[in-house]
Amino acid sequence: MFTNKTFTMLKPDSVEKGNIGAILEKITASGFRIVALKLTQLTNADAEAFYAVHNERPFFGDLVTYMTRGPIVAAILEKENAVEDFRTLIGATNPTEAAEGTIRNMFADSISENAVHGSDSDENAAIEGAFHFSEREMF
Ligand code: CMP
Repeated sequence: MFTNKTFTMLKPDSVEKGNIGAILEKITASGFRIVALKLTQLTNADAEAFYAVHNERPFFGDLVTYMTRGPIVAAILEKENAVEDFRTLIGATNPTEAAEGTIRNMFADSISENAVHGSDSDENAAIEGAFHFSEREMF
């Protein structure tokens, strides 16, 4: 069972702006333990599969271009109630609606380039984590 864990990506805009350290500091200061961590880059096929649920949306092409344009930081995080607490920590999809002090409020520029991903369920956290990490990379 993959419970009390979530999966995150620090998206290309976060890496480009030099915000990896600041965002990871905010995540660990909020009580999450880093279980797995890597700098990597999504291929077109990766991004299309990852965001397949949005493939009918008008922004899908731009989303795939954005998510593949440079490296991301992939991580698995552990904390009691990880999925829900992490989504609270990152804030609303649109940074103009994200609460004060949330990661998107602090580090995101727009609804399309919104700094971080957070899994929406334990099931998806397990799928997304297993896509990026082997058992020997999870601690
Ligand atoms: P996230 O919620 O992590 O996953 C889906 C992504 O699609 C979202 O972050 C944004 O990066 C992007 N997205 C969602 N809604 C819009 C929108 N209305 N316009 C452009 N991009 C969007």
